[in-house]
Amino acid sequence: MSSIAELFFNNQAWAQDLSARDPKFFEQLAVQQRPEYLWIGCADSRVPAEELVGLAPGEVFVHRNVANVVVHTDFNSLSVMQFAVDVLKVKHIIVCGHYGCGGVHATLRGDRVGLADNWLRHVDDVLQKHSTFLDSWTDESTRFNHLCELNVIEQVANVCKTTVVRDAWERGQELSVHGWIYGMRDGLLRDLHTSAHSHESAKSSYANAVSSLPE
Ligand code: CO
Repeated sequence: MSSIAELFFNNQAWAQDLSARDPKFFEQLAVQQRPEYLWIGCADSRVPAEELVGLAPGEVFVHRNVANVVVHTDFNSLSVMQFAVDVLKVKHIIVCGHYGCGGVHATLRGDRVGLADNWLRHVDDVLQKHSTFLDSWTDESTRFNHLCELNVIEQVANVCKTTVVRDAWERGQELSVHGWIYGMRDGLLRDLHTSAHSHESAKSSYANAVSSLPE
């Protein structure tokens, strides 16, 4: 069986298995989705959003890009966020980075990777902003880990500053934004303690999260 044919074979087995457990599963899902979570993560194949938090189809709205970056003028991520918040009324937005991120590593080393260099300039902005803290570490792997963490913390702050999230908070909609990081070596998530549920808490959580990284 070719590798592509295998994917169709796997798909049939997966659909049959879900239908056997819940005969109305696909019928109900086809009519409506009601996810409580929006996941903004890295495109890395080793960080499967739904799978690592044990959620089923219909339970998490997902946006992934290289190095889980949230750019103020990126209509792709902004449109995802607007639909998730305004229409689906998700209660949580999770920005999830991961240790060992190739995009973050290329930025840290100043490697040229091609077109993506332009995209990764946003991670370079994070690097420049926290250069004093990052330069205080002589060990490259520690610097790398901290840049992965800081990139998540900065992207959470970017999410909180979007008109989508600010408007939701202003009209009193229940919405929290979180920053997590995933460890590929142990499969575990870590909370970076940068959660925000209002404009004020976003500012204090950001300051706390940045200052609570080990000196
Ligand atoms: Co990555």
